[in-house]
Amino acid sequence: MAPQRRSAPRAAADSGAAERRRPSRNKKDRAPQETPREMWLRTVGLGAGLVLAAFLLWSSLGTEDGVTEVLAHRGEVLAGRFIEVPCSEDYDGHRMFEGCTPRKCGRGVTDIVITREEAQRIRSIAEKGFSLGGSDGGASILDLHSGALSVGKHFVNLYRYFGDKIQNIFSEEDFQLYRDVRQKVQLTIAKAFGISVSSLYLTKPTFFSRMNSSEARTAHDEYWHAHVDKVTYGSFDYTSLLYLSDYLEDFGGGRFVFMEEGANKTVEPRAGRVSFFTSGSENLHRVEKVHWGTRYAITIAFTCNPDHSIEDPAFT
Ligand SMILES: *[C@@H]1O[C@H](CO)[C@@H](O)[C@H](O)[C@H]1NC(C)=O
Ligand SMILES: *[C@@H]1O[C@H](CO)[C@@H](O)[C@H](O)[C@H]1NC(C)=O
Repeated sequence: MAPQRRSAPRAAADSGAAERRRPSRNKKDRAPQETPREMWLRTVGLGAGLVLAAFLLWSSLGTEDGVTEVLAHRGEVLAGRFIEVPCSEDYDGHRMFEGCTPRKCGRGVTDIVITREEAQRIRSIAEKGFSLGGSDGGASILDLHSGALSVGKHFVNLYRYFGDKIQNIFSEEDFQLYRDVRQKVQLTIAKAFGISVSSLYLTKPTFFSRMNSSEARTAHDEYWHAHVDKVTYGSFDYTSLLYLSDYLEDFGGGRFVFMEEGANKTVEPRAGRVSFFTSGSENLHRVEKVHWGTRYAITIAFTCNPDHSIEDPAFT
């Protein structure tokens, strides 16, 4: 509407008739066309229209992916960013362990605990494992603790399947690196939450994930639903993720999203980036669908309950 209004007087001004009439115009002639009050109203109307249009555009963009804030950009190298959030009551329904069960809750991201070179080496371990199988849908998992690997629409147990021959696939150095990385992540979590590192135990499931844009075939492939780790896996108290590939370099989509009323917060994966958080509903989250490429990560989970602890992977 606005452009039409503007163009009409211009067209009239172009005609010779308008030119000739102009000098004879008095205040009375002009007054009915546009008083200052009308001009003011028009300006306000136009302004309000623009604000409304901008708002509609913003809200449609906002609801499309629901993202409003970036907690960690892929390009940043974070020496440690920590945001405290009030703890949910999810821990109350479980056995409490003084000095470990979350009393201080929150989420952190750091790029200086695991080097990109270590991430690359860890990723090679994942690639070796995944080369033996892979889900038909977009999400495969490899659990070096239990030996579980996605194959087609199911899981196989690599250790049972290969027996001693597993030593031709994974090496002692692979397992050593995996333990080192787990240890560094555990230390990071203990420090950030002010608890003793020895009060934390590795728990299950702790696993590699490989995601691509293939359509889901089973519920296991549907990684993008919002969830609370403590609800899904009762044993989790602290969850961590180590990213093994780069957002927008290796894959598109696939950002991690903390879901909150008012403002969702994203973590953009970056190889070597560790993201960690308390596992209760104070950290409701989801992973966006991967649109292209392949996204690798490890989920490393910790519990305060020694009854739920698992061992590091090792050749027996
Ligand atoms: C957060 O994300 C969810 C799902 O993507 C969306 O439904 C919700 O509207 C988003 N919230 C905000 C405040 O943007
Ligand atoms: C995704 O990975 C599976 C193996 O798990 C593979 O069969 C499929 O071709 C991949 N899809 C794409 C789009 O690359």
